[in-house]
Amino acid sequence: MQEDWDVVILGAGAAGLLCAALAGQRGLRVLLIDHAARVAEKVRISGGGRANFTNRNLDPAAPHRHYLGGNPHFCRSALARFTPQDFIALMERHSIGWHEKHKGQLFCDRSAEDLIALLLAECARGGVERWQPCQVKNLMFLASSAHPASAGSYQIDTDRGPARARSLVVATGGLSIPKIGASGLGFDLARQFGLKIIDTRPGLVPLTFDGTAWTLYAQLAGLALPVAISTGEKKDRITFHEDLLFTHRGLSGPAVLQISSYWRPGTPIDIDLAPGIDLAAELRAAKARSRKLLANELAAWLPARLAEAWAGLDPAWQRPVNEASDKALAQLAERLKRWQLVPTGTEGYRKAEVTVGGVDTRGLSSQTMEARAQPGLYFIGEVVDVTGWLGGYNFQWAWASAAACAEALAERHAASTIA
Ligand code: FDA
Repeated sequence: MQEDWDVVILGAGAAGLLCAALAGQRGLRVLLIDHAARVAEKVRISGGGRANFTNRNLDPAAPHRHYLGGNPHFCRSALARFTPQDFIALMERHSIGWHEKHKGQLFCDRSAEDLIALLLAECARGGVERWQPCQVKNLMFLASSAHPASAGSYQIDTDRGPARARSLVVATGGLSIPKIGASGLGFDLARQFGLKIIDTRPGLVPLTFDGTAWTLYAQLAGLALPVAISTGEKKDRITFHEDLLFTHRGLSGPAVLQISSYWRPGTPIDIDLAPGIDLAAELRAAKARSRKLLANELAAWLPARLAEAWAGLDPAWQRPVNEASDKALAQLAERLKRWQLVPTGTEGYRKAEVTVGGVDTRGLSSQTMEARAQPGLYFIGEVVDVTGWLGGYNFQWAWASAAACAEALAERHAASTIA
Protein backbone atom coordinates (compact mmCIF):
# COMPACT_ATOMS: atom_id res chain seq x y z
CA MET A 1 0.00 0.00 0.00
CA GLN A 2 1.20 3.49 -0.88
CA GLU A 3 2.56 5.42 2.12
CA ASP A 4 2.88 9.20 2.13
CA TRP A 5 5.64 11.02 4.00
CA ASP A 6 6.83 14.60 4.21
CA VAL A 7 10.35 13.46 3.52
CA VAL A 8 12.12 10.25 2.58
CA ILE A 9 15.82 10.09 3.45
CA LEU A 10 18.03 7.52 1.73
CA GLY A 11 20.96 6.35 3.86
CA ALA A 12 20.94 5.81 7.63
CA GLY A 13 24.54 6.85 8.17
CA ALA A 14 25.90 9.86 10.02
CA ALA A 15 24.22 12.53 7.87
CA GLY A 16 20.96 10.67 7.19
CA LEU A 17 20.32 9.85 10.87
CA LEU A 18 20.90 13.39 12.12
CA CYS A 19 18.87 14.94 9.31
CA ALA A 20 16.00 12.50 9.96
CA ALA A 21 16.07 13.25 13.69
CA LEU A 22 16.12 17.04 13.29
CA ALA A 23 13.44 17.06 10.58
CA GLY A 24 11.24 14.73 12.66
CA GLN A 25 11.69 16.92 15.72
CA ARG A 26 10.42 19.85 13.66
CA GLY A 27 7.20 17.97 13.09
CA LEU A 28 7.84 16.36 9.70
CA ARG A 29 6.80 12.78 8.98
CA VAL A 30 10.13 11.20 8.09
CA LEU A 31 10.93 7.83 6.53
CA LEU A 32 14.58 6.74 6.63
CA ILE A 33 15.63 3.94 4.26
CA ASP A 34 18.90 1.96 4.26
CA HIS A 35 19.85 -1.19 2.40
CA ALA A 36 22.37 -2.38 5.00
CA ALA A 37 21.34 -4.72 7.79
CA ARG A 38 22.81 -2.49 10.51
CA VAL A 39 22.54 1.24 11.03
CA ALA A 40 25.56 3.62 10.78
CA GLU A 41 28.22 1.01 10.05
CA LYS A 42 30.86 3.65 9.31
CA VAL A 43 30.24 5.45 12.56
CA ARG A 44 30.70 2.08 14.27
CA ILE A 45 34.18 1.48 12.81
CA SER A 46 35.29 5.11 12.85
CA GLY A 47 38.13 6.46 14.94
CA GLY A 48 39.30 2.96 15.84
CA GLY A 49 35.85 2.22 17.34
CA ARG A 50 35.71 5.49 19.30
CA ALA A 51 34.45 7.82 16.52
CA ASN A 52 36.46 11.01 16.08
CA PHE A 53 33.15 12.86 15.92
CA THR A 54 34.32 16.43 15.35
CA ASN A 55 37.30 18.76 15.48
CA ARG A 56 37.63 21.86 17.62
CA ASN A 57 40.12 23.49 15.22
CA LEU A 58 37.55 23.78 12.45
CA ASP A 59 37.33 27.34 11.18
CA PRO A 60 34.01 27.86 9.35
CA ALA A 61 35.28 31.20 8.04
CA ALA A 62 38.14 29.44 6.25
CA PRO A 63 36.81 26.01 5.27
CA HIS A 64 39.47 25.56 2.59
CA ARG A 65 41.94 25.01 5.44
CA HIS A 66 40.39 21.62 6.23
CA TYR A 67 38.17 20.71 3.26
CA LEU A 68 38.77 19.91 -0.41
CA GLY A 69 36.35 20.05 -3.30
CA GLY A 70 35.58 21.97 -6.48
CA ASN A 71 34.39 24.86 -4.30
CA PRO A 72 35.78 24.60 -0.74
CA HIS A 73 33.69 27.65 0.23
CA PHE A 74 30.47 25.73 -0.48
CA CYS A 75 30.53 24.24 3.03
CA ARG A 76 31.03 27.60 4.79
CA SER A 77 27.38 28.43 5.51
CA ALA A 78 26.39 25.00 6.85
CA LEU A 79 29.56 24.69 8.95
CA ALA A 80 29.00 28.16 10.43
CA ARG A 81 25.40 27.35 11.39
CA PHE A 82 26.09 23.95 13.00
CA THR A 83 29.47 24.04 14.72
CA PRO A 84 31.59 21.51 16.62
CA GLN A 85 30.22 23.15 19.80
CA ASP A 86 26.67 22.29 18.70
CA PHE A 87 27.59 18.64 18.39
CA ILE A 88 29.45 18.70 21.72
CA ALA A 89 26.28 20.11 23.31
CA LEU A 90 24.32 17.18 21.85
CA MET A 91 26.87 14.71 23.26
CA GLU A 92 26.56 16.36 26.66
CA ARG A 93 22.76 16.24 26.58
CA HIS A 94 23.14 12.47 26.20
CA SER A 95 25.84 12.31 28.91
CA ILE A 96 28.35 10.78 26.50
CA GLY A 97 31.91 11.23 27.70
CA TRP A 98 34.46 12.50 25.20
CA HIS A 99 38.08 13.55 25.17
CA GLU A 100 40.41 15.56 22.98
CA LYS A 101 43.38 13.96 21.27
CA HIS A 102 45.95 15.97 19.36
CA LYS A 103 45.09 18.75 16.89
CA GLY A 104 41.57 19.36 18.18
CA GLN A 105 40.29 15.83 17.49
CA LEU A 106 37.39 14.79 19.76
CA PHE A 107 36.65 11.11 20.43
CA CYS A 108 34.02 9.22 22.44
CA ASP A 109 35.49 8.06 25.76
CA ARG A 110 33.87 4.65 25.59
CA SER A 111 32.67 3.57 22.16
CA ALA A 112 31.24 4.75 18.85
CA GLU A 113 28.18 2.73 19.85
CA ASP A 114 27.32 5.57 22.25
CA LEU A 115 27.21 7.96 19.32
CA ILE A 116 24.97 5.58 17.34
CA ALA A 117 22.68 5.28 20.38
CA LEU A 118 22.53 9.10 20.51
CA LEU A 119 21.53 9.33 16.85
CA LEU A 120 18.88 6.62 17.23
CA ALA A 121 17.48 8.24 20.38
CA GLU A 122 17.24 11.58 18.55
CA CYS A 123 15.43 9.80 15.68
CA ALA A 124 13.01 8.20 18.13
CA ARG A 125 12.35 11.66 19.64
CA GLY A 126 11.51 12.86 16.13
CA GLY A 127 9.19 9.90 15.48
CA VAL A 128 11.32 8.78 12.53
CA GLU A 129 10.23 5.57 10.80
CA ARG A 130 13.12 3.42 9.55
CA TRP A 131 12.96 0.74 6.87
CA GLN A 132 16.13 -1.34 7.11
CA PRO A 133 17.33 -3.44 5.39
CA CYS A 134 15.39 -2.12 2.45
CA GLN A 135 16.36 -2.02 -1.23
CA VAL A 136 15.38 0.92 -3.42
CA LYS A 137 14.15 -0.58 -6.69
CA ASN A 138 13.05 2.52 -8.55
CA LEU A 139 12.72 6.22 -7.89
CA MET A 140 10.99 8.92 -9.90
CA PHE A 141 9.72 12.46 -9.66
CA LEU A 142 6.02 12.85 -10.37
CA ALA A 143 6.13 16.10 -12.28
CA SER A 144 2.57 15.89 -13.46
CA SER A 145 0.25 13.17 -12.40
CA ALA A 146 -3.17 11.78 -12.93
CA HIS A 147 -3.61 12.58 -9.22
CA PRO A 148 -2.97 16.30 -8.78
CA ALA A 149 -2.33 15.74 -5.07
CA SER A 150 0.84 13.75 -5.81
CA ALA A 151 2.30 16.02 -8.51
CA GLY A 152 5.67 17.38 -7.39
CA SER A 153 6.31 14.32 -5.22
CA TYR A 154 8.97 11.62 -5.29
CA GLN A 155 7.79 8.05 -5.79
CA ILE A 156 10.17 5.47 -4.27
CA ASP A 157 9.59 1.78 -4.97
CA THR A 158 11.29 -0.54 -2.50
CA ASP A 159 11.23 -4.20 -1.57
CA ARG A 160 9.11 -3.14 1.43
CA GLY A 161 6.56 -1.44 -0.78
CA PRO A 162 6.14 2.02 -2.29
CA ALA A 163 6.65 5.33 -0.50
CA ARG A 164 5.86 8.85 -1.65
CA ALA A 165 7.18 12.15 -0.32
CA ARG A 166 7.31 15.85 -1.17
CA SER A 167 11.03 15.94 -0.39
CA LEU A 168 13.82 13.45 -0.94
CA VAL A 169 17.19 13.58 0.81
CA VAL A 170 20.09 11.56 -0.58
CA ALA A 171 22.52 10.69 2.23
CA THR A 172 23.99 7.49 0.80
CA GLY A 173 27.64 8.45 1.39
CA GLY A 174 30.64 7.68 -0.78
CA LEU A 175 32.14 4.55 -2.32
CA SER A 176 34.62 3.58 0.37
CA ILE A 177 34.35 0.22 2.14
CA PRO A 178 31.77 -1.44 -0.14
CA LYS A 179 31.61 -4.52 2.10
CA ILE A 180 29.73 -2.53 4.77
CA GLY A 181 27.19 -0.98 2.46
CA ALA A 182 28.78 1.75 0.32
CA SER A 183 27.14 2.05 -3.10
CA GLY A 184 26.97 4.47 -6.00
CA LEU A 185 23.20 5.04 -5.63
CA GLY A 186 23.63 8.68 -4.66
CA PHE A 187 25.71 9.42 -7.73
CA ASP A 188 23.24 7.55 -9.96
CA LEU A 189 20.35 9.59 -8.56
CA ALA A 190 22.29 12.82 -9.03
CA ARG A 191 22.82 11.93 -12.70
CA GLN A 192 19.18 10.89 -13.07
CA PHE A 193 18.17 14.42 -12.04
CA GLY A 194 20.75 16.14 -14.25
CA LEU A 195 23.39 16.96 -11.64
CA LYS A 196 27.06 16.60 -12.51
CA ILE A 197 29.46 14.35 -10.64
CA ILE A 198 33.01 15.50 -9.97
CA ASP A 199 35.25 12.48 -10.69
CA THR A 200 35.53 10.32 -7.59
CA ARG A 201 38.65 8.73 -6.15
CA PRO A 202 39.64 7.13 -2.84
CA GLY A 203 40.81 9.60 -0.17
CA LEU A 204 42.39 9.20 3.28
CA VAL A 205 43.90 5.98 1.97
CA PRO A 206 47.30 4.23 2.22
CA LEU A 207 49.62 4.64 -0.77
CA THR A 208 51.24 1.64 -2.45
CA PHE A 209 54.62 1.13 -4.11
CA ASP A 210 55.39 -1.86 -6.29
CA GLY A 211 58.56 -3.46 -7.52
CA THR A 212 61.96 -4.36 -6.26
CA ALA A 213 62.68 -0.77 -5.26
CA TRP A 214 60.21 -1.15 -2.39
CA THR A 215 61.66 -4.44 -1.06
CA LEU A 216 64.13 -2.64 1.20
CA TYR A 217 61.44 -0.46 2.76
CA ALA A 218 58.99 -3.36 3.10
CA GLN A 219 61.34 -4.67 5.79
CA LEU A 220 60.52 -1.56 7.78
CA ALA A 221 56.81 -2.49 8.00
CA GLY A 222 55.39 -1.40 11.36
CA LEU A 223 57.86 1.44 11.86
CA ALA A 224 56.36 4.88 12.52
CA LEU A 225 57.94 8.32 12.78
CA PRO A 226 56.92 11.99 12.57
CA VAL A 227 57.52 13.53 9.14
CA ALA A 228 56.60 16.49 6.98
CA ILE A 229 54.94 15.28 3.77
CA SER A 230 54.12 17.36 0.70
CA THR A 231 52.65 17.10 -2.76
CA GLY A 232 51.51 19.42 -5.56
CA GLU A 233 53.07 22.37 -7.31
CA LYS A 234 53.31 26.05 -6.45
CA LYS A 235 50.01 27.40 -5.10
CA ASP A 236 48.54 23.87 -4.95
CA ARG A 237 51.42 22.65 -2.81
CA ILE A 238 50.26 21.22 0.52
CA THR A 239 52.27 19.96 3.50
CA PHE A 240 51.21 17.94 6.53
CA HIS A 241 53.19 17.40 9.75
CA GLU A 242 52.03 14.02 10.99
CA ASP A 243 53.19 10.45 11.65
CA LEU A 244 54.23 8.16 8.79
CA LEU A 245 53.84 4.38 8.99
CA PHE A 246 55.73 1.88 6.82
CA THR A 247 53.60 -1.07 5.64
CA HIS A 248 54.40 -4.18 3.60
CA ARG A 249 52.88 -2.67 0.46
CA GLY A 250 53.74 0.99 0.97
CA LEU A 251 53.11 3.88 3.31
CA SER A 252 50.28 4.72 5.66
CA GLY A 253 49.72 6.60 8.92
CA PRO A 254 48.04 9.99 9.33
CA ALA A 255 50.67 11.79 7.21
CA VAL A 256 50.03 9.57 4.20
CA LEU A 257 46.25 9.39 4.65
CA GLN A 258 46.12 13.20 4.66
CA ILE A 259 48.34 13.64 1.61
CA SER A 260 46.53 10.86 -0.31
CA SER A 261 43.44 13.06 -0.68
CA TYR A 262 45.54 15.61 -2.57
CA TRP A 263 47.87 13.21 -4.43
CA ARG A 264 47.36 12.78 -8.19
CA PRO A 265 48.49 9.53 -9.88
CA GLY A 266 51.86 9.85 -11.59
CA THR A 267 52.99 12.78 -9.45
CA PRO A 268 55.59 12.60 -6.65
CA ILE A 269 55.27 13.06 -2.91
CA ASP A 270 58.14 14.57 -0.89
CA ILE A 271 58.88 13.40 2.63
CA ASP A 272 61.11 15.14 5.16
CA LEU A 273 62.11 12.29 7.46
CA ALA A 274 63.70 14.63 10.00
CA PRO A 275 61.39 17.65 10.15
CA GLY A 276 62.63 20.64 12.09
CA ILE A 277 66.20 19.34 12.12
CA ASP A 278 69.07 20.86 10.11
CA LEU A 279 70.47 17.44 9.33
CA ALA A 280 73.32 18.71 7.13
CA ALA A 281 74.63 20.90 10.00
CA GLU A 282 74.11 18.10 12.55
CA LEU A 283 76.08 15.61 10.44
CA ARG A 284 78.92 18.12 9.89
CA ALA A 285 79.07 18.67 13.65
CA ALA A 286 79.00 14.90 14.26
CA LYS A 287 81.91 14.46 11.86
CA ALA A 288 83.98 16.87 13.96
CA ARG A 289 83.31 15.12 17.27
CA SER A 290 82.46 11.45 16.70
CA ARG A 291 83.93 8.22 15.36
CA LYS A 292 80.68 6.30 15.48
CA LEU A 293 79.23 4.61 12.41
CA LEU A 294 77.11 7.02 10.41
CA ALA A 295 74.06 4.79 10.99
CA ASN A 296 74.55 5.09 14.76
CA GLU A 297 74.85 8.87 14.55
CA LEU A 298 71.71 9.06 12.43
CA ALA A 299 69.84 7.13 15.11
CA ALA A 300 69.97 10.29 17.24
CA TRP A 301 67.37 11.83 14.91
CA LEU A 302 65.67 8.81 13.25
CA PRO A 303 64.41 5.41 14.48
CA ALA A 304 67.44 3.08 14.58
CA ARG A 305 65.94 0.61 12.05
CA LEU A 306 65.36 3.37 9.56
CA ALA A 307 68.83 4.88 10.13
CA GLU A 308 70.43 1.51 9.51
CA ALA A 309 68.38 0.73 6.38
CA TRP A 310 69.05 4.19 5.02
CA ALA A 311 72.82 4.13 5.62
CA GLY A 312 72.86 0.72 3.89
CA LEU A 313 71.70 2.33 0.64
CA ASP A 314 75.14 3.70 -0.32
CA PRO A 315 78.67 2.39 0.46
CA ALA A 316 79.73 6.01 1.06
CA TRP A 317 77.39 6.03 4.10
CA GLN A 318 78.51 2.71 5.57
CA ARG A 319 81.45 4.04 7.53
CA PRO A 320 82.33 6.02 10.64
CA VAL A 321 80.98 9.53 10.40
CA ASN A 322 84.46 11.10 10.72
CA GLU A 323 85.60 9.13 7.63
CA ALA A 324 82.60 10.08 5.46
CA SER A 325 83.24 12.74 2.85
CA ASP A 326 81.55 16.13 3.22
CA LYS A 327 79.78 15.43 -0.07
CA ALA A 328 78.47 12.04 1.11
CA LEU A 329 77.14 13.61 4.32
CA ALA A 330 75.49 16.46 2.41
CA GLN A 331 73.86 13.96 0.01
CA LEU A 332 72.61 11.83 2.87
CA ALA A 333 71.09 14.85 4.61
CA GLU A 334 69.51 16.02 1.37
CA ARG A 335 67.99 12.59 0.63
CA LEU A 336 66.53 12.28 4.13
CA LYS A 337 65.15 15.81 4.10
CA ARG A 338 63.64 15.39 0.64
CA TRP A 339 62.78 11.76 0.02
CA GLN A 340 60.91 11.98 -3.25
CA LEU A 341 58.86 9.04 -4.45
CA VAL A 342 56.08 8.35 -6.92
CA PRO A 343 53.42 6.00 -5.50
CA THR A 344 52.19 3.26 -7.81
CA GLY A 345 48.66 3.69 -6.52
CA THR A 346 46.46 3.51 -3.44
CA GLU A 347 44.82 0.71 -1.47
CA GLY A 348 41.59 1.80 -3.15
CA TYR A 349 38.04 2.07 -1.86
CA ARG A 350 38.56 -1.16 0.08
CA LYS A 351 40.69 0.77 2.60
CA ALA A 352 39.80 4.42 1.93
CA GLU A 353 38.13 6.38 4.73
CA VAL A 354 36.44 8.72 2.28
CA THR A 355 35.57 9.38 -1.34
CA VAL A 356 37.02 12.53 -2.87
CA GLY A 357 34.72 14.12 -5.48
CA GLY A 358 30.99 13.54 -5.73
CA VAL A 359 27.89 15.58 -6.47
CA ASP A 360 29.02 18.87 -8.03
CA THR A 361 28.30 21.65 -5.55
CA ARG A 362 27.54 24.08 -8.38
CA GLY A 363 24.21 22.27 -8.76
CA LEU A 364 23.31 22.64 -5.06
CA SER A 365 22.33 25.50 -2.75
CA SER A 366 24.98 25.96 -0.05
CA GLN A 367 22.25 27.23 2.33
CA THR A 368 19.86 24.29 2.02
CA MET A 369 21.68 21.48 0.11
CA GLU A 370 18.73 21.44 -2.33
CA ALA A 371 19.37 20.79 -6.02
CA ARG A 372 19.02 24.14 -7.80
CA ALA A 373 17.14 22.67 -10.75
CA GLN A 374 15.13 20.01 -8.93
CA PRO A 375 12.81 21.24 -6.17
CA GLY A 376 12.62 19.03 -3.11
CA LEU A 377 15.75 17.00 -3.88
CA TYR A 378 18.63 17.35 -1.37
CA PHE A 379 22.14 15.87 -1.09
CA ILE A 380 24.00 15.79 2.23
CA GLY A 381 27.15 14.27 3.72
CA GLU A 382 29.87 12.49 1.85
CA VAL A 383 27.93 12.01 -1.39
CA VAL A 384 28.57 15.73 -2.02
CA ASP A 385 31.89 16.94 -3.44
CA VAL A 386 33.12 18.08 -0.01
CA THR A 387 35.93 16.07 1.59
CA GLY A 388 37.39 16.81 4.98
CA TRP A 389 40.82 16.20 6.40
CA LEU A 390 41.46 13.34 8.76
CA GLY A 391 40.52 14.30 12.32
CA GLY A 392 36.72 14.54 12.64
CA TYR A 393 36.17 16.99 9.77
CA ASN A 394 34.15 14.50 7.71
CA PHE A 395 31.67 13.81 10.49
CA GLN A 396 31.36 17.54 11.15
CA TRP A 397 30.44 18.03 7.48
CA ALA A 398 27.88 15.20 7.77
CA TRP A 399 26.32 16.85 10.89
CA ALA A 400 26.39 20.39 9.49
CA SER A 401 24.97 19.54 6.05
CA ALA A 402 22.29 17.41 7.75
CA ALA A 403 21.30 20.29 10.05
CA ALA A 404 21.16 22.81 7.19
CA CYS A 405 19.00 20.42 5.18
CA ALA A 406 16.65 19.66 8.09
CA GLU A 407 16.07 23.39 8.61
CA ALA A 408 15.31 23.83 4.91
CA LEU A 409 12.97 20.83 4.90
CA ALA A 410 10.99 22.32 7.78
CA GLU A 411 10.71 25.66 5.98
CA ARG A 412 9.66 24.00 2.72
CA HIS A 413 7.06 21.95 4.52
CA ALA A 414 5.73 24.97 6.41
CA ALA A 415 5.51 26.96 3.17
CA SER A 416 3.62 24.17 1.36
CA THR A 417 1.25 23.74 4.32
CA ILE A 418 0.42 27.45 4.31
CA ALA A 419 -0.02 27.39 0.51
P1 FDA B 1 27.71 7.11 5.57
O1 FDA B 1 28.65 6.28 4.79
O2 FDA B 1 27.93 7.28 7.03
O3 FDA B 1 26.22 6.56 5.41
C1 FDA B 1 25.69 6.21 4.16
C2 FDA B 1 24.57 5.25 4.40
O4 FDA B 1 23.91 5.04 3.14
C3 FDA B 1 25.04 3.89 4.86
O5 FDA B 1 24.32 3.49 6.01
C4 FDA B 1 24.76 2.96 3.68
O6 FDA B 1 24.41 1.65 4.07
C5 FDA B 1 23.61 3.67 3.00
N1 FDA B 1 23.50 3.35 1.59
C6 FDA B 1 24.48 3.32 0.67
N2 FDA B 1 23.98 2.91 -0.52
C7 FDA B 1 22.66 2.67 -0.34
C8 FDA B 1 21.63 2.21 -1.18
N3 FDA B 1 21.88 1.86 -2.45
N4 FDA B 1 20.38 2.07 -0.66
C9 FDA B 1 20.13 2.39 0.64
N5 FDA B 1 21.08 2.81 1.49
C10 FDA B 1 22.34 2.97 1.00
N6 FDA B 1 35.21 10.55 9.71
C11 FDA B 1 35.43 11.33 10.79
O7 FDA B 1 35.07 12.51 10.78
N7 FDA B 1 36.04 10.80 11.90
C12 FDA B 1 36.45 9.51 11.98
O8 FDA B 1 36.93 9.04 13.01
C13 FDA B 1 36.29 8.70 10.81
N8 FDA B 1 36.75 7.42 10.77
C14 FDA B 1 36.51 6.64 9.68
C15 FDA B 1 37.00 5.32 9.67
C16 FDA B 1 36.74 4.51 8.58
C17 FDA B 1 37.30 3.11 8.56
C18 FDA B 1 35.97 5.00 7.50
C19 FDA B 1 35.64 4.12 6.33
C20 FDA B 1 35.51 6.30 7.51
C21 FDA B 1 35.79 7.14 8.58
N9 FDA B 1 35.36 8.46 8.60
C22 FDA B 1 35.61 9.24 9.70
C23 FDA B 1 34.57 9.04 7.50
C24 FDA B 1 33.09 9.05 7.89
O9 FDA B 1 32.72 7.75 8.31
C25 FDA B 1 32.22 9.48 6.70
O10 FDA B 1 32.71 10.66 6.15
C26 FDA B 1 30.78 9.66 7.17
O11 FDA B 1 30.28 8.44 7.67
C27 FDA B 1 29.92 10.14 6.01
O12 FDA B 1 28.59 10.20 6.46
P2 FDA B 1 27.40 9.95 5.43
O13 FDA B 1 26.18 9.89 6.25
O14 FDA B 1 27.49 10.89 4.32
O15 FDA B 1 27.70 8.51 4.83
